[in-house]
Amino acid sequence: MRYINLKFLLLWLKYSLSKYSRYRYLFKFIVAIKPKSILEIGVYKGKRSSEMIDLAQSLNKKIQFYGFDLFEKITKKKIKIEFSKNPSSKKEIFKMLSQSFPKSKIKLIGGNTITTLKRFKTKKKIDFIFIDGGHSVKTIKKDWQNVKKLINKKSIVIFDDYYSDDKISRKFGSKRIIDNLEKKYVAKILPSSDIVSIKNKEILNSLVLVKIR
Ligand SMILES: C[S@@+](CC[C@H](N)C(=O)[O-])C[C@H]1O[C@@H](n2cnc3c(N)ncnc32)[C@H](O)[C@@H]1O
Repeated sequence: MRYINLKFLLLWLKYSLSKYSRYRYLFKFIVAIKPKSILEIGVYKGKRSSEMIDLAQSLNKKIQFYGFDLFEKITKKKIKIEFSKNPSSKKEIFKMLSQSFPKSKIKLIGGNTITTLKRFKTKKKIDFIFIDGGHSVKTIKKDWQNVKKLINKKSIVIFDDYYSDDKISRKFGSKRIIDNLEKKYVAKILPSSDIVSIKNKEILNSLVLVKIR
């Protein structure tokens, strides 16, 4: 890093002091690779989307952002299966992001990523991908399968929800996918002190960085 980026410094401090301290690494790697394109699986309320675009835009003039979520197609059943949260509407998030970042290109894709990501095609590979949508092993496995087609050697993929508990990880989180990655990929579990409560258990939750070896 040739100079200290003030936006990055503020984000690093803010997250270091919060219960979501793992997210500070999202910003560290955005500064490191200066992505021109970002894809987020699981936009939710657009908070992290907004922070990632803002930082990436300070390093590049404009950003292509792709955001995938169920948006208003979420159901109570899906929230339970995916151990998920209730997102804002696609319209609301699009308005917020496009007004905040008029220079960047914002594309939001609504629906279940099992089908939307499979259909998704781009001319250029994506520089930075954050996988944080459905939390079931089945969905994360499919998301990773579809993400593999979108990356090249320079791309970085960050998985959320690497849980320290093997029993919980049989059903939820990215651990099973990360622990069984093909040799072609390299994974690094990023430092974290974030605790999540699942089924009355307190579990360590980390981000994982994945790249083509
Ligand atoms: C944990 S939240 C994402 C948080 C967001 N990345 C952030 O950092 O603020 C998970 C999101 O994934 C979405 N989601 C869950 N299952 C999904 C699926 N199968 N397809 C698409 N989106 C899904 C939910 O609607 C929810 O908004």
